[in-house]
Amino acid sequence: MICIMHMVCIMQMRCIMSIIAIGNSKGGSGKTTTAVCLATAFAAKGLSVALLDADPDGRAGSWFSRWAAATEYQGTLARDTKSGLLLSAHCHRGITLVPAVNEDNLQDLADEAAAQNQMVLIDLQGSANQSMLLAFGMADLVVIPVQSSAFDLEGMVKAVKSVRSVGRTARRQIPHWVLLCRTATIPQGTRVDKFVRGEVEKLGLPVFGSELHLRTAFQRMTLDGLPPDKLADKGAWQDVEDLAREVALILQGKHPRHSAAGEVAHG
Ligand SMILES: Nc1ncnc2c1ncn2[C@@H]1O[C@H](COP(=O)(O)OP(=O)(O)O)[C@@H](O)[C@H]1O
Ligand SMILES: [Mg+2]
Repeated sequence: MICIMHMVCIMQMRCIMSIIAIGNSKGGSGKTTTAVCLATAFAAKGLSVALLDADPDGRAGSWFSRWAAATEYQGTLARDTKSGLLLSAHCHRGITLVPAVNEDNLQDLADEAAAQNQMVLIDLQGSANQSMLLAFGMADLVVIPVQSSAFDLEGMVKAVKSVRSVGRTARRQIPHWVLLCRTATIPQGTRVDKFVRGEVEKLGLPVFGSELHLRTAFQRMTLDGLPPDKLADKGAWQDVEDLAREVALILQGKHPRHSAAGEVAHG
């Protein structure tokens, strides 16, 4: 039943163009992992996806290069000799990787990507910079990944303040949801997982029911570029499926907790 609903949800998404910004001013919180997992999950369901790499370190681009090498990409990936960053956009298996996105070109590149794709994902740098504000301003949904660590809560609060401030300027509510990452797979999680979840809930923030648990399949993706496999990495694959399903529901205004996302207390 859930599977059929998921399919219907994704099919409906083909008719809507959506921009999703993935941000948290804290580095290492799981932004690129989230962006890549969503990109591959939606592309596997037949959606055309643009992945905008707005981190000067180009981690989304490095992932794309590894994934392309592992999955018979026929083109040539030209790189800057000094930085090693990709020089131009490349498309492979439904995903267009757009490199070198910065505060000067972000809005143009996002508009261009939105005109040509059903989904645009913006992978941001771990800092509260101008690119982050511009991406939040254009987003239909902001995903804020938070690593299961008390240290990461501060970055989350900063990102939430930024989304709300941008939304206030634009006079619209920008849906923003917190995604817990690197949580333990044991039921209820560890003491730290419970603490982090509790703090997020105390702030009245909408939290994804799904989590990207601490799993080797997500770490391995940095090495071979391959997203979690349905059979070999069942748990990680399911985490990503659940997340993609929730994202699709939010974008269509059908998530059971959706109204809460627009009406959270302004702390
Ligand atoms: N759920 C997870 N399980 C295991 N490792 C993870 C998970 N999420 C992220 N990582 C690892 O943590 C590191 C930082 O994640 P990354 O997505 O690059 O963070 P960010 O983009 O926010 O800096 C990477 O090495 C990544 O493989
Ligand atoms: Mg990153």
